[in-house]
Amino acid sequence: MLKDKDRIFKNLYGTLGAGLKDAQKRGDWDDTKKYVTKGSSWIIEEIKKSGLRGRGGAGFPTATKWGFVPKPTKEKPAYLVVNADESEPGTCKDRDILRHEPHKVLEGSVITASVIGARVAYIYIRGEYFHEANCLQSAIDEAYDAGLLGKNTKTGWDMDIYIHRGAGAYICGEETALLESLEGYKGMPRLKPPFPAVVGLYGCPTLVNNVETLSVVPSILRRGADWHRSIGTEQSAGPKIFCISGHVNTPCNVEESFGIPIKEMIEKHAGGVRGGWDNLLAIIPGGSTTPVIPKNICDKITLDYESLMKAQSGLGTGAIIVIDKSADILKVITRIAKFYMHESCGQCTPCREGTGWMWRVLQRMCVGNATVPEIDELWEVTKQIEGHTICAFGDAAAWPIQGLIRHFRPEIEKRIKKYNAIATA
Ligand SMILES: Cc1cc2nc3c(=O)[nH]c(=O)nc-3n(C[C@H](O)[C@H](O)[C@H](O)COP(=O)(O)O)c2cc1C
Ligand code: SF4
Repeated sequence: MLKDKDRIFKNLYGTLGAGLKDAQKRGDWDDTKKYVTKGSSWIIEEIKKSGLRGRGGAGFPTATKWGFVPKPTKEKPAYLVVNADESEPGTCKDRDILRHEPHKVLEGSVITASVIGARVAYIYIRGEYFHEANCLQSAIDEAYDAGLLGKNTKTGWDMDIYIHRGAGAYICGEETALLESLEGYKGMPRLKPPFPAVVGLYGCPTLVNNVETLSVVPSILRRGADWHRSIGTEQSAGPKIFCISGHVNTPCNVEESFGIPIKEMIEKHAGGVRGGWDNLLAIIPGGSTTPVIPKNICDKITLDYESLMKAQSGLGTGAIIVIDKSADILKVITRIAKFYMHESCGQCTPCREGTGWMWRVLQRMCVGNATVPEIDELWEVTKQIEGHTICAFGDAAAWPIQGLIRHFRPEIEKRIKKYNAIATA
């Protein structure tokens, strides 16, 4: 379990003030200039040593990504874009940072902008986060007034930060769709390569990072890479904010150390599974995209990138959705499939047509109105979508259904047999 002294987010629950003075009491903006002055190479090396991986879902090594951004020129300035779209179902960690710890993301943005030479950062926030956008704007205003943003700043890095509000499309969380939206176009993902690091916003070098990723950067530099490395596991270093929802007694967001057993996490922080651990059916461990894992795996699994990958699921955004035995697992996954059908941007045929097709088949399977070979056909279609689309949304739509078939095939078959028995009686 994470020790209190190792927490980065001391105001996650909003019990202390979110304003500048309170944030400074918690250590934010403390000696920012000292770290900025150490320069890009030093900061990148520290972040590399710390083992920080992006908190937006893919877990890409942060320092490696920073290193991809070419030096800005007069014609091609660099931009920092903060991804505050937070649309993955089950995920609500960035929301708490934005409303309770907004200065962390601002300070992290200044330090990161100095690394890539960006003088402007845009925070792309989902439209539904109206209150959070207001909290963030107040923090930005305070930072300008205190000489932490703008010109001749106390941080040693002059820059501006602007908020851009999205209009509620899940796909705008995908970094290239986000950039399209920011430029004023429809939020449709771009073909990659080129990657945003080289050709991003307005065709210029652009770094896109998640709110949580940027928010932890200042604490890592202050406490040191070794401190961050000492928490968690070999491939999953540090503390992270997890979101626990679904059939638990006390749903919550909590900052915990990677590597904690999922059972301990739920029992210590979320009041346990409704009706007790034995009432657990399955868990979606990292947001709706990540394949569901049944109880027998949950009994032993730990929360880190490597263990969850080995279990053919993923850590994703760290959003743990608990499903107890009262739930109909087919209906749960069918509802998720409907979400992905609705949110597909429609550019690629496998995603546009496949998401709707899968949802329709699943709807029939919920009542058993299907055939056993159709289960294999459904599996095959998920494989035809996965890896065959412009963006990773296709994978995101395929994985929950693969998880269902992998672990709950007998339940689907049982339903089909029952339906057919009644139909032929
Ligand atoms: C369909 C889709 C939706 C995504 N939604 C989000 C999101 O809401 N927030 C986010 O930070 N990253 C999201 N991502 C990941 C981003 O594309 C990008 O990898 C991330 O913002 C990079 O930040 P990080 O390296 O700090 O994790 C999404 C990716 C995909 C494919
Ligand atoms: S995979 Fe889906 S969401 Fe992504 S670009 Fe293709 S159609 Fe759009």
